[in-house]
Amino acid sequence: MSVIKVAILGFGTVGEGVYRTIQSHAQEFTAVLGKKVEVVAILVKNIQKERNIREDVLLTTNFQEILRLPQLDVVIEAIVDKEPTFTYLKQAIGKGCHIITANKEMFAHHGKELLDLAKENGVSVGYEATVAGGIPVIQTLRQLLNINRVSQIQGILNGTSNFILSEMREKKQSFAESLRQAQAKGYAEADPTNDIEGFDAFYKAMILSRIAFGEEPDWQTVERQGITAITSELIEAAEKLKLRFKHVASISKEDEQIIASVKPILVGDENPFYHVEGAENAVNVHSDIVGRITLQGPGAGMYPTASAMIEDLVYVCQSKLNSRQNIKKTADWRGQIRKQKDY
Ligand code: NDP
Ligand code: HSE
Repeated sequence: MSVIKVAILGFGTVGEGVYRTIQSHAQEFTAVLGKKVEVVAILVKNIQKERNIREDVLLTTNFQEILRLPQLDVVIEAIVDKEPTFTYLKQAIGKGCHIITANKEMFAHHGKELLDLAKENGVSVGYEATVAGGIPVIQTLRQLLNINRVSQIQGILNGTSNFILSEMREKKQSFAESLRQAQAKGYAEADPTNDIEGFDAFYKAMILSRIAFGEEPDWQTVERQGITAITSELIEAAEKLKLRFKHVASISKEDEQIIASVKPILVGDENPFYHVEGAENAVNVHSDIVGRITLQGPGAGMYPTASAMIEDLVYVCQSKLNSRQNIKKTADWRGQIRKQKDY
């Protein structure tokens, strides 16, 4: 049986989750793809750390060593920061590999370039894990955008912020202790500033904007606030009024203009976000035919994120099987009308 060879960049919360899931669901991969999926290499920063991986897997700190492997089909990226990630992924595409990423900061900045480069090279890019953890929001939007016109997306897009607000309200815990727990559970970014100051949700909102509307607002015009100003006293006062603080990203298109904001708001129990607790995320999509739909589920953590990445793994492998026909069909059939679906 032929084999799909995969490299994983990063073996932290997400990378390890992806590795373990590929081992535990080997039969499902084979059944769906008709091929075996095999992790052949893992990139890390600190080679001294103990890792629970098969002995035949190449463990290295040198990405060029991975690129030199005789056959490599897919590079799954779960490291941090924009660089060296962007450079590595461009090199992987240049070598003819499909890429899959969880790195929203890098993808919000460089996603368009990666997608264009991938198209030139006839490979695919999976980025479901960049937004809302395990919730298949990107696949759902792609499906919905076939005919529906989306007018607005609102979402709780940062699991760490929602976890902190929930812990402060339910357990009367301090902000600092709640953040420490979010870090221990693997929800928070390596530098949690991105979570608590709203940058992480902002990057996710920009990725969604490009999918739904084919463009992003000028980043400088987007109001961005985190949750650091929300004190226990404010949470308690809101609770007395039967209101809860939720950190919400909102993107809409009005008169051909994209309007976006990322900030804490107060919601009552008629709002679907009211009951979204812990590290859960939720996304409301408003579109002309279906109306409003709400997707809710785990927004961060090892296995929810691995779930999004391994579903992408199937997507990129299957798109390769059909790639030539699909590229032609898309160009002939949709032309300019659905240009945004290329993202
Ligand atoms: P971790 O900090 O747990 O793991 C990061 C991993 O990347 C580590 O294995 C680290 O190596 C490795 N690494 C970091 N920098 C480099 C580098 N320059 N070269 C090689 N290896 C490197 O992060 P997470 O797993 O939590 O997150 C990874 C990515 O996934 C981030 O972009 C994050 O935003 C995104 N993400 C995270 C989610 C989550 O719930 N945690 C959910 C969705 C997306 P070493 O082990 O040697 O230190
Ligand atoms: N730090 C991110 C969060 C991980 O808390 O939502 C998932 O993207």
